[in-house]
Amino acid sequence: MQQILDDIAAEMASETDHGKVADYIPQLAHVDPNQFGIAIATPDGQVYAAGNASTLFSIQSISKVFTLTIGLGKLGDGIWTHVGREPSGDPFNSITVLEYESGRPRNPFINAGAIAVVDAIMMGHEPKATLGEILRFVHFIADDDSIRFDHKVAASEMQHRDRNAALAHFMKSFGHIKHDVDKVLGVYFHQCSIAMSCEQLARAGLFLVSNGVNQHTGVRVINAQQSRRINSLMMMCGHYDGAGEFAYRVGLPGKSGVGGGILTIAPGKGSIAVWSPGLDHVGNSKLGLKALELLVQKTGWSVF
Ligand code: DON
Repeated sequence: MQQILDDIAAEMASETDHGKVADYIPQLAHVDPNQFGIAIATPDGQVYAAGNASTLFSIQSISKVFTLTIGLGKLGDGIWTHVGREPSGDPFNSITVLEYESGRPRNPFINAGAIAVVDAIMMGHEPKATLGEILRFVHFIADDDSIRFDHKVAASEMQHRDRNAALAHFMKSFGHIKHDVDKVLGVYFHQCSIAMSCEQLARAGLFLVSNGVNQHTGVRVINAQQSRRINSLMMMCGHYDGAGEFAYRVGLPGKSGVGGGILTIAPGKGSIAVWSPGLDHVGNSKLGLKALELLVQKTGWSVF
């Protein structure tokens, strides 16, 4: 496994087209695009890593997997009154389908859906309480208390919140958002700002590898059915309008973020985190996708 990761990192180092770093969040525009990291955590507790696998990056939309897990844990199937579970085929920040579907977002991974999940898990509490809950949950699943929000990234997103604020107000007009919009957005931007390395992120995904249980720590995070369902949502919706391409080339559940990270789950085998900040035209890590395609070719880990 270590040899496979070293080979992939070497191959990625020779790539010249890294894609384009997200700049609609100004704080992310400063990140050096010439970085690549990969880590795999396996159920026996091993972590294999190569490249910039211990460098912290902004997990962005990957955090939506964690808040969905919290939402399923707190509300069970009740979470589906707040958000649907169909692929959107639209960009992550699209508003168009929201109007046709009475302000109910298609799935928990588009921005509108993730904002609705935050509103659902707040349950009348102040942002601080919900943020504490999210961070404690990430500490718990990653087995690492050192993980933090990046307040600069969160502030940068709050300052440039127009599109997400529009989505949230639009949903609120249909009664799908209950709390104050800026409070919900404050929580959402902080969850997206969480800074993690590939090694930490790979560990955090382990519960999805083994039906809701982190086999290494022995802790159950969520029940087996919920774990399978999160994986199926990642497969169908985790890459927005690039979900078909990801399923075609990688064939595993995955969730991307505009920070350039992708968390990918190979059920029964391992939790894989890749990171390279340059993005393709739909906002997913360009080298990240290439690296995962190679990994699956070398390991045969596709679910198909
Ligand atoms: O709300 C946003 O636009 C960002 N905080 C998250 C978007 C994102 O990561 C999309 N993923 N590829």
